[in-house]
Parts: sequence; structure tokens; C-alpha cells
Amino acid sequence: MKELILVTGGTGYIGSHTAVELINEGYEVVIVDNLANSTVDSLDGIEKITGVRPAFEQFDLCDKPNVEAFFRKYSRLKAIIHFAAYKAVGESVDQPLKYYRNNLVSLMNLLECMEQFKVPLMVFSSSCTVYGQPKELPVTENAPILPAESPYGNTKQICEEILRDSGCSMPALQVISLRYFNPIGAHPSALIGELPQGIPDNLVPFVTQTAAGLRGELKIFGDDYPTPDGSAVRDYINVTDLAKAHVTAIRRLLDQKNETGLEFFNLGTGHGTSVLEVVKTFEKVTGVPVHYKVVGRRAGDIVAVWADTTKANQVLGWKAGTSLEDTLLSAWNWEKKLRGIQ
Ligand code: UD1
Repeated sequence: MKELILVTGGTGYIGSHTAVELINEGYEVVIVDNLANSTVDSLDGIEKITGVRPAFEQFDLCDKPNVEAFFRKYSRLKAIIHFAAYKAVGESVDQPLKYYRNNLVSLMNLLECMEQFKVPLMVFSSSCTVYGQPKELPVTENAPILPAESPYGNTKQICEEILRDSGCSMPALQVISLRYFNPIGAHPSALIGELPQGIPDNLVPFVTQTAAGLRGELKIFGDDYPTPDGSAVRDYINVTDLAKAHVTAIRRLLDQKNETGLEFFNLGTGHGTSVLEVVKTFEKVTGVPVHYKVVGRRAGDIVAVWADTTKANQVLGWKAGTSLEDTLLSAWNWEKKLRGIQ
């Protein structure tokens, strides 16, 4: 019988790509999502790609009775990948309590049920935001955790602390926290991808929407940073590569290969790319011009961050393999499909 994995937030951007990779690797997937920032259409995409429609339960993980009922119903559950969370940095500044309640309560409800129903394995969706602007680049998992720049970032830090403290009282608990750098792109089939609501905050959705004519011009936030071309530098990682790392992490937990009850891994490419390089590469691979203008720096942005991926490469045996070119092309193919552009 296939091993059953719960993917919370599984109709969302990274969750849907991970559901695909889990199914492709022979796992059975059940998705829980409250559809706060996604739609059920993702299930159609997952089904078209894999030939399997995962089970789907729509409820809010902050609602404890529903979480308990879920664990009772899916008693075969082997492990959990927990994506479901709010993630917009700017919104978290305006509505911090919304972020603290949602991101923390959902995790605590899950952990209590994991203990009660004896499902002690979790892969947690964390972020490189926990490092702030690191003193040394590339950043390793041992870099100090700096005070968070936003309530969103703080929720990721606090969640990691909750996981660490819970491990002390629940020795059976085994968690792998994956710290993502900047996930971009879409599935090569263009059947699933990122669906930002309203005006995108993130760079690549803004680039593709500008290329598609939905936005007049892209604002480049600052060209006076101490970087080679003056624009800020990030580590952009292909979303399917990222999704595959979750399957590797789940296997590690199921095979009891993890060395401690809470492990951290950076998930990036190990290469920094500037905002201007992203725009120029997008134009080169798609042949579509992107109108842009340089404006002032965005509050809260750091200058540069990219990952030291040695630990993920050596311990997880995982490596990001897709080029920036192919990844940006996949983002464009997804945008074209959404907008009906030939
Ligand atoms: C942010 C969060 C990160 C979160 C990620 C996904 C921080 C410090 N970072 O990453 O934790 O996981 O969002 O939600 O909290 N840019 C432009 N014009 C735009 C949009 C972006 O120039 O219209 C620039 C930004 O200034 C930045 C780069 O593009 O230099 C990447 O920005 P973005 O895609 O928003 O991601 P981060 O801010 O790096």
C-alpha cells in the first residue's frame, strides 16, 4: 500500500508542485487547504500531470476540531508537509495578528494532533528570511538568526522555535525545516503555477504580468546597491526542483535517516542573480520586452543573499538542476496559458 502524505496548503504554489512530485514518486497524497490564496483548479492541474487526483479536504487548520477529525479520518497518515501559511511581507506589516494567528495556531494544532495520533514526521516550509542580511555569503544553515524584518519573517522564526521546543517534550517528533530562497517558475507542462491575487509583490510574477500587458511597467527597486550592477541579488530556485527536495526530505524521515529530531536545510541554487539580470534573461529567452524603470529601494529589502547548498547537496543528495533560462521560460508559458496568449 502506498504511503499516505498530508500536504497542507497543497492547492497553493509550492504545495501543488510538491503534490505532483510525491505522486510521481509513488506516494499517496491528501491535501488540506482553506483556499484562502489558491483555487481547486490546482487539483485539475495535478490530475492532468500525474493521472491521479489527490484527496482534498477544505478546512482551516486553525480550527482544531476539524484538524482532529482529519487525523481520525486519515488514520493511515505517515507524514506531513506543512506549507499552509500566509506569506505576503507587506500585508504582514499591516495585519500582524492575522499572520501570527494563522501561521502559529495552524502549526500548533498540527503538532498537538501529531502527538495525539502518533504521526510524528513533518517537513516544514521555512524561508531564508530567517537569516536577514547575513554577514557572510553564501549563507550556511549555521548563520545566526537575525531579528526578523517583518511579522511574516518572525512567524517563520517562531515556528522553527516551536518545532525545536516541541521536540524536547515529544522525543518522537522528527522534523526537517526547509529554508527556501526565492522560488520561481512553473511546472514545465504549464498546468500548474503561481497565482498571485491582485498586484504581485514578488519579482517574477510582476515581470510576467508586465510582459503579458497586465501591468504598465515593472519598477526595479534600487540600482544603487553595492552589487555588480547596482540591483539587489537573490538566489532564484526553480519550483519543481524545490518540490523534489520535499520528496527527498520525506523519504529521509520515513527511512529514519535524519541525524537529529530537527534538521535545517537551505534550498537554493547556490548562485546569486541580480534583479536586472532576471529581467534581461527573461527578455532573452522569451523575446518579449519588459518595460521597466528604476525607482527607489523598497523598505525592508536586503542587499544580497544566496545559499550555501552544500548540506542539502551532500546530506539530502539533492541539487537544483534547472537553469534560470528554463525556469523563466516556464513562468512565461504559465502566464501565457493563464491569459490565453499564443
Ligand atoms: C520575499 C521574502 C521571502 C519570501 C518571498 C516570497 C523577505 C526579506 N523576503 O523575498 O521571505 O519567502 O518574498 O514571498 O521577507 N523587486 C523589484 N520589483 C518588483 C518586485 C521585486 O525590483 O516589482 C525586487 C526586490 O526589491 C528584490 C527582488 O526583486 O530585490 C526579489 O523580490 P521578491 O520577489 O519580492 O522576493 P524577496 O523580497 O527576496
